[in-house]
Amino acid sequence: MSILQTAVTAKAHTNIALVKYWGKADQSLIIPTNDSISLTLDHFYTTTTVRFDAHLTADEITLDGLTLPTDGQQRMRHFMDMIRHEAKITTFAHIETANHVPTAAGLASSASGFAALAGAAAKAAGLSTDRQYLSRLARRGSGSASRSLFGGFVHWHAGHDDASSFAEPLTEKVTWPIRMIAIVTSRAEKKIGSTNGMQASQSSPYFADWVKTANADISPMTAALFKEDIKSVGEIAEHNAMSMHATTLSAEPPFTYFNSGSLQAMQAVQDLRLTGVNCYYTMDAGPNVKVLCEAADVPAILARLQPLFGSYNLVVAKPGPGLTYL
Ligand code: DP6
Repeated sequence: MSILQTAVTAKAHTNIALVKYWGKADQSLIIPTNDSISLTLDHFYTTTTVRFDAHLTADEITLDGLTLPTDGQQRMRHFMDMIRHEAKITTFAHIETANHVPTAAGLASSASGFAALAGAAAKAAGLSTDRQYLSRLARRGSGSASRSLFGGFVHWHAGHDDASSFAEPLTEKVTWPIRMIAIVTSRAEKKIGSTNGMQASQSSPYFADWVKTANADISPMTAALFKEDIKSVGEIAEHNAMSMHATTLSAEPPFTYFNSGSLQAMQAVQDLRLTGVNCYYTMDAGPNVKVLCEAADVPAILARLQPLFGSYNLVVAKPGPGLTYL
């Protein structure tokens, strides 16, 4: 059996940024305007199986056993064209993807999806599985996917071209009991996805300042992560996230990812802090709020959040691993 017929399955976990990626310097290569830092999470992941098949006349793509709608397939087909170009082949592939993310936890992300696809497709096509190379490939599917190749705390170097824009682990195996509690404030599909949201935000008069702020956050965030200093990590992450969201509020036309539940959640975290609990919030391109804290404070935080949001809408996550082959 030729290498091209072997089915390859890869597993990648989702990640949440502590210093956000929000803006592209190059749309087609997905080169970001600034460096970013993330935390890969444990039990939210995607598994993807890729098998090239000379009999196919197009890629055959399924998600959780169902054929994806055409527009959902377009980004993956485009990605597979890039893999074929890299591998100098023309063969199409069967691609089966399964998302292991609690329904509506607001953590389903293109990050784990494109990281798993990059890993599986590259190996099935006979390309290198060097993780820096896979990070560059995954980046071209979805920027945040470049970070999901690695576990723990990860730094994506913005770079200036395809070769220099890749992620690298800061600490892959995190022993610090840092936790992220996801607060689900809405189950509806987001109206403005991250690709369109960040493009629209580049019209904000504050966008250039956002880029400066984000790049300036990298070195103190790195130091705080190495010191396992939850107060500094949380303060930088919270301020960084709100600076990112300021570019949506000041975009032309303005928009926001906040809903009333997001505001309520942020207020609850601030109130908890006044009672001496070290907890901080961050938000991405959707209304759900993620709370950063240490394991010892999880019970107190949940006790405060449960009456407001219900246990079903609270998901506690730990640091998780990088890409693996199954
Ligand atoms: C707010 O990686 O989804 O989650 O590169 O256009 O696919 P594309 O965007 P995507 O953006 C993620 C934005 C974010 C912040 C982050 O993860 O750094």
